[in-house]
Amino acid sequence: MKNFPGDALFCLDGKGKNVSSEASGRDILRSVLITGATGGIGAELASYYATPGRTLILWGRNAQRLTQLATECCAKGAVVHTRQVDLCDGAAALAAFEEDDATHKPDCVVLGAGLSDIQSLEDRTEDPQKVLQLGLVNYATPVTLATAAAKSMAERNGGHIALIGSVAGFYEMPFSAAYSSSKSGLAFFAKAAGLAWQQYGVKLTLIVPGFVDTPMSQRLEGPRPFLVPAKKAARVIVRAIARGQREYIFPWPFRVLRVVERLLPQKLREYILLRLAVGQKER
Ligand SMILES: NC(=O)c1ccc[n+]([C@@H]2O[C@H](COP(=O)([O-])OP(=O)(O)OC[C@H]3O[C@@H](n4cnc5c(N)ncnc54)[C@H](OP(=O)(O)O)[C@@H]3O)[C@@H](O)[C@H]2O)c1
Repeated sequence: MKNFPGDALFCLDGKGKNVSSEASGRDILRSVLITGATGGIGAELASYYATPGRTLILWGRNAQRLTQLATECCAKGAVVHTRQVDLCDGAAALAAFEEDDATHKPDCVVLGAGLSDIQSLEDRTEDPQKVLQLGLVNYATPVTLATAAAKSMAERNGGHIALIGSVAGFYEMPFSAAYSSSKSGLAFFAKAAGLAWQQYGVKLTLIVPGFVDTPMSQRLEGPRPFLVPAKKAARVIVRAIARGQREYIFPWPFRVLRVVERLLPQKLREYILLRLAVGQKER
């Protein structure tokens, strides 16, 4: 587990304050912090949020990708700070967040970094090391950072936090128990914390994607029903955040499935889950 200290600044000047007033609500936010900015969804979110007069604080591990993304967002007029952080080290991530929060006071924090893993057919269990990483990156660190953000936002009379879950969190998937349970835990946290924080003006949105066309889902061997392009995913995520939705499941067939699967008898549900054939390509 390695953490990369430091904060790189890419643009000194946000090129004026000519933020257009768009129905999407993109113009309201002055400062946005995104974890997993180097990923498929995160990069599109960063690009979407990059406008003149706005500061972006982009977190990821891949230095080259961070630099490339920062350059693109600067070209769109945003002031960009990047930080290399390994979210497996929750304590270091919290310290980094407190530093960025004190400097930039983000009014929106999007916790989008995530890891997935599928148990191979030859193995009897998941790899315990990967299970630990999944628990840290998908659950422990994001809920810690969300809490730190909420604490600070409550003192500033408000803000918005978005957590990226997954429809996998709705199902007890035998071939990826760690991933589905990490997302299920995140969803439960979002419900409880959202209730607790609303009185302080802190909004919490849980984004629940189905399949999005990014490196994460491209590794899967098997069908990706109702696949959504990453750019479109970013657009609907930004819209859900702007509307202050508590939970946003997309694309819509997964909202229908959510209703249908609740009607299934448990035995039938388990029968289907045990027969799902999903594999993954090696990284
Ligand atoms: N794609 C889908 O079909 C899908 C469906 C449902 C939910 N989601 C969720 O959506 C979110 C974004 O996923 P994506 O599809 O954009 O995946 P992705 O392209 O694989 O990107 C994952 C991001 O998480 C970061 N990350 C992974 N491990 C990290 C660690 N230890 N420390 C810091 N950052 C780490 C990666 O950083 P580096 O690349 O810099 O290492 C990258 O920015 C995830 O939470 C995922 O679970 C995705």
